[in-house]
Amino acid sequence: MREWTREERYRVLKDASEIRGLYDSIKKSRYRQTYHIQPITGLSSDPNGFIYHKGTWHLYYQWCPWGAVHGLKYWYHTSSTDLVHWKNCGVGIYPDTFYDNKGVHSGSGFSDGDNLYLFYTGNHRDENWVRTPYTCVAKLEDSGKLVKAPKPLFGPHKDYTEHQRDPKVVYDKESQHYYILLGAQSKDLKGKVLIYRSDNLLTGWTFAGELKVPGFENLGGMWECPSIEHIAGKDILVFSPQYTKLPHRNQSTNHNVYLIGRMDFANLTFTAEGDFRHLDYGFDFYAAQFAANVQEGDRAILTAWIGLPDNHYPTEEEDWEGSLIIPRELRIVDGRLIQKPVPEMISLRQEELVLTDKLSRSCELAVENKDGQDFRLNLFTKENGSAGFQISYDKATKTCTIDRSQMDLRFNKAIGECLSLPLEKNLEKLSIFIDHSSVEIFFNDGEATFTTHLYPTESEAYFTASSNVTIKAWSLEKSVTDDFVV
Ligand code: FRU
Repeated sequence: MREWTREERYRVLKDASEIRGLYDSIKKSRYRQTYHIQPITGLSSDPNGFIYHKGTWHLYYQWCPWGAVHGLKYWYHTSSTDLVHWKNCGVGIYPDTFYDNKGVHSGSGFSDGDNLYLFYTGNHRDENWVRTPYTCVAKLEDSGKLVKAPKPLFGPHKDYTEHQRDPKVVYDKESQHYYILLGAQSKDLKGKVLIYRSDNLLTGWTFAGELKVPGFENLGGMWECPSIEHIAGKDILVFSPQYTKLPHRNQSTNHNVYLIGRMDFANLTFTAEGDFRHLDYGFDFYAAQFAANVQEGDRAILTAWIGLPDNHYPTEEEDWEGSLIIPRELRIVDGRLIQKPVPEMISLRQEELVLTDKLSRSCELAVENKDGQDFRLNLFTKENGSAGFQISYDKATKTCTIDRSQMDLRFNKAIGECLSLPLEKNLEKLSIFIDHSSVEIFFNDGEATFTTHLYPTESEAYFTASSNVTIKAWSLEKSVTDDFVV
């Protein structure tokens, strides 16, 4: 693992030519994906500003150009008209003011129909490296020009630590106020959400208070990327708690969870109807963002980072890592989120593949497990069927398990290489999306999902499946451009 100096990590990108060589070499990597958003160079982490505006989906990501390292962050801009064909649009927001001198950190988009606003955290540091986070706004004009407001909307609240960031803007019809939710940490090191209120998007923001979430006061030491969405008559609170271990996540201390319930903005209280659940049960899923109540008014689309803070991935050696999940459409059924790939994904299917024992490195698999029997499906095995990435199901306990410990390239061993989850229903169906360095698995039409990075070597090109399983497979169109646009 390469050691980076602070100067290297926080170097300002002055001209696109400075990273052209890096881009050219990264392009040759066997792990570059074809239908996932990924960084042109360096690191992509959280999705940001995900929004539908005037017929276009905008989706940004946290970007550090120089390598697979967290340093000076930019928002990199991608756009789409159908959620599956994405093009690179270049840097969306530069860290070029006093308030964001050490990074444009995460945030959200808000469209009032006519105007598109991007709310973000300006990560300011002084010469002693003391951090001051500012909540900032910029407007994306129809011409594509970004205009930053000259001053932040507000600075940090003195009663919390320096960890106050990731503004999410919500409009509450009842009170007719706008709210900004911020991920935060109390001085006794607990994860919190801070709420600011205004009746105008661009001015007059005041601190309303801390969000109360009765029963969930001790869930981690920092809540990153919070959001509240209204889906199918319910409210859902989503956040990424850190510095704690949680059930079903082995040794990981970074998670992405949700609660379904009711948000009362008048009393700043979110009342949950049940326990929290993980948004995804795989190894690499974090900082999810929604574009909810868009298009026909009731579509809710989810994106997230395939990756985790403080973790390291094999493509670091090649100076890049990270990507975003394929967009998922959400519903709420029986008190849980059901997540499916957006139906537009079907348009990417090319030919149906004749499956022998060879596995394509970019494809969709539709797996049927007749009568919900025990089964085992090993992807990326050796030619003799050994090793690989193991997906298994135990009917007696209705438990499914994924295990990446048998792959040639092992990584992040410390968080555990095996994850298990008991399902509600027998496992009869799996939908699996493979793309060079990631696998996303949807169990039982979205009852649970598992997302993981995987880096199969040349000899890991086969698969085995137990006999009760039938598999259909399609190759998928390359739908995300990988052009050098800076
Ligand atoms: C989550 C996060 C955010 C922050 C951003 C910085 O991964 O730590 O809280 O705004 O990344 O890149």
